[in-house]
Amino acid sequence: MKILFVCLGNICRSPIAEGILRKLSPELEIDSAGTSNFHIGSPPDHRMIESASQHDIDISELAARQFVPKDFEYFDKIVVMDAANYRDVIRLAQDEDHKNKVVFALDGNKDVPDPYFGDNEGFETVYQLLYNACQQILDSIENR
Ligand code: 4NP
Repeated sequence: MKILFVCLGNICRSPIAEGILRKLSPELEIDSAGTSNFHIGSPPDHRMIESASQHDIDISELAARQFVPKDFEYFDKIVVMDAANYRDVIRLAQDEDHKNKVVFALDGNKDVPDPYFGDNEGFETVYQLLYNACQQILDSIENR
């Protein structure tokens, strides 16, 4: 099973989701990407790296990349963080099969709040939300 997490910049939300799920389930193939080209090649935001390390997760070696249409072919599940990510990814889908791979991280299609312009607490909130989301993803895979 191959899972891709997607956010806007690929430096805050999707890298921590990648780090969490990789730790929870080393057998899965996991990657992350951003819908924008803002931070291509950059490591995660230092505040996200710090939050991750407080939970014994190392995301410092990741490098941001942009989502590409080929990702629809390679990945089984594409997990987006908010409604804007959903819209931007769906716009690149070529068929229903692609569209059906795209799901929200949170129940009820709620947004994982973008922590980039906020304070440090926002990063811990994102960690907690995505930790729970990753547990649910694992449950859904195991119960299929
Ligand atoms: P992310 O957060 O989408 O969770 O990586 C952001 C990172 C950068 C920007 C916005 C959100 N930015 O505007 O540069």
